[in-house]
Amino acid sequence: MQFDQFLKEVAVYLGLQWRPFQRRGIKRKVERRLTQLGLFDFETYLKRIKDDPTEHAYLSNILTVTISRFFRDKEVFDALETSILPAILRNREKSDLKIWSIGCASGEEPYSFSLLWKENFEKEYPGILLSILATDIDEKMIERAKEGRYKKSCLREVPENILRHYFRAENGFYVLNEVIRKGVEFRAHNILEEESFSNMDIVFSRNLAFTYFSKESQIKVLKKLATCLNDHGYLIIGKDETLPFTYPTLFIPIFQSEKIYKKFNPTDLVGLNEVL
Ligand SMILES: C[S@@+](CC[C@H](N)C(=O)[O-])C[C@H]1O[C@@H](n2cnc3c(N)ncnc32)[C@H](O)[C@@H]1O
Repeated sequence: MQFDQFLKEVAVYLGLQWRPFQRRGIKRKVERRLTQLGLFDFETYLKRIKDDPTEHAYLSNILTVTISRFFRDKEVFDALETSILPAILRNREKSDLKIWSIGCASGEEPYSFSLLWKENFEKEYPGILLSILATDIDEKMIERAKEGRYKKSCLREVPENILRHYFRAENGFYVLNEVIRKGVEFRAHNILEEESFSNMDIVFSRNLAFTYFSKESQIKVLKKLATCLNDHGYLIIGKDETLPFTYPTLFIPIFQSEKIYKKFNPTDLVGLNEVL
């Protein structure tokens, strides 16, 4: 089996599109992996991926970029701080606030939310119990996320006061304060194949499903996202992503350029203020 054929078949199997892949870099990585595993051809590797969930996760990780940053697309976090969270908290009947970050990489996204909450809302809302769930298909990313050690390059959008307060420098890395680390629950989870969670207030699904997944997988994920959110929940996707064509039946855009959507709820259709 040639590499291109392998890539096409494996992409379909993993629910990914195969066009955006940077073919050469990926070929090198896959060949290196074959050598590590003592395998000699792509056909045997394909079989291995189908039989072994760890290898499935390993390859998904290779085929999707895993780079992230704290406060990536700062405008999204600004919109959360000034509009979305105040709107959620204004009408809060329950005492918990549930957040889910899907494809969380090394934890930059869920930790950014945690820092935003700590800095701007925690004191004012002592009765709200914040729970942040962060999932990624790759166990290694999850372990790295729990460690909370970062290079300066993924901290460039972090405000200076937050950097000073919540990170300490150690051997060329920046280590996140333990209190923030403990506030996020990390779990290995494949969004395409595993059961979803429920009753979420905000779901981050950025730079994964709507970039790398095939159209069929995107629709499958979109339906899952609508189900896991509560009736007034919000979905945040990546700045360069678009939702599949079925979305108007499930979500309405709230902030177009920040790519923040609200779960479609017919009772909200009174005016934008009501919707928010
Ligand atoms: C580019 S990162 C996105 C990080 C973060 N959400 C952001 O926007 O900065 C994509 C992550 O998705 C993970 N991933 C790939 N396939 C996945 C799947 N099927 N389920 C869950 N996570 C997956 C990868 O391991 C990687 O860490």
